[in-house]
Amino acid sequence: MKRERLSGVFQERLKDCAAQVSARLKRELAARGEAPVVEAMRYATAGGKRLRAFLVMESARLHGVEDGRSVHAAAAVEAMHAYSLVHDDLPCMDNDDLRRGRPTVHIKWDEATAVLAGDALQALAFEMLTREALHPDPTVRLGLVAALARAAGAGGMVLGQARDIAAESADRPLTLEEITELQALKTGALIGWSAEAGPHLAGADPAPMRDYSRAIGLAFQITDDILDVEGDVSKAGKRLGKDAAAGKATFVSLLGLEGARARARALVDEAQAALETYGESADTLRQAALFVISREM
Ligand code: IPE
Ligand code: IPE
Ligand code: MG
Ligand code: MG
Ligand code: MG
Repeated sequence: MKRERLSGVFQERLKDCAAQVSARLKRELAARGEAPVVEAMRYATAGGKRLRAFLVMESARLHGVEDGRSVHAAAAVEAMHAYSLVHDDLPCMDNDDLRRGRPTVHIKWDEATAVLAGDALQALAFEMLTREALHPDPTVRLGLVAALARAAGAGGMVLGQARDIAAESADRPLTLEEITELQALKTGALIGWSAEAGPHLAGADPAPMRDYSRAIGLAFQITDDILDVEGDVSKAGKRLGKDAAAGKATFVSLLGLEGARARARALVDEAQAALETYGESADTLRQAALFVISREM
């Protein structure tokens, strides 16, 4: 599936959300001085597809919440995501030297700086969710803080990462069910938080966005695993061809490339069906589901 099939409206909105979030993060970090750890935070939060930011801002817009509010939650989840990547690339995790087309943080600085920059990015994510500009009602902001803590922590992303590492040395391959759960934790939890942020800010029913994000979260990680096998490093901006050698549990390792592709396509249909209740106003989110499996980076 090719990128050109995506609508101009979707591509413009993705770009626009990315620009707003990058500006927000830049402003947040501008006041924090020039220490190497802060420079590393700036470096780690630059670039990327900003898919999670887009999901926050589009799910918010769909529920009548303006960008000026949702951008704070979008920047928060991108800071959290950036922390997860900095730590994921460390020698004790995936040991990678390239991210977003540039040297990883521990290569550019050192491991201590990478650990600390990741820690501080996680703290920054929570701090940004406390801003009054996000929502006038502190209980709404607190709800988002608690949900992000659950999504990122030892019952969410961290647990997924722990299982990902444990699977490398497991004495039997994971089952399809186990891999599905691992991926839902590792990647799906933050994507889910992002897509539910809109209804959360609006006090609306999160169920349709939850179903949508479950499907695209999984499709997203399946595509990441496919790209590791057949992607182009100059487009992906990270080292590829490493999962099999590391003994990672992926959909490709279990279903093969064709099986993984078929699963991802079925998940896009599922995601789009979950949006039915919103009618045409959810078209950009429908496009995002396609983007998730047709991307090359
Ligand atoms: C990469 O995430 C890590 C995974 C969860 C697979 P992205 O592919 O969203 O990375 P960026 O933010 O665009 O660099
Ligand atoms: C990373 O998954 C997931 C998180 C950072 C939570 P991967 O290890 O597959 O991501 P890449 O391939 O390095 O981007
Ligand atoms: Mg990893
Ligand atoms: Mg990795
Ligand atoms: Mg990967």
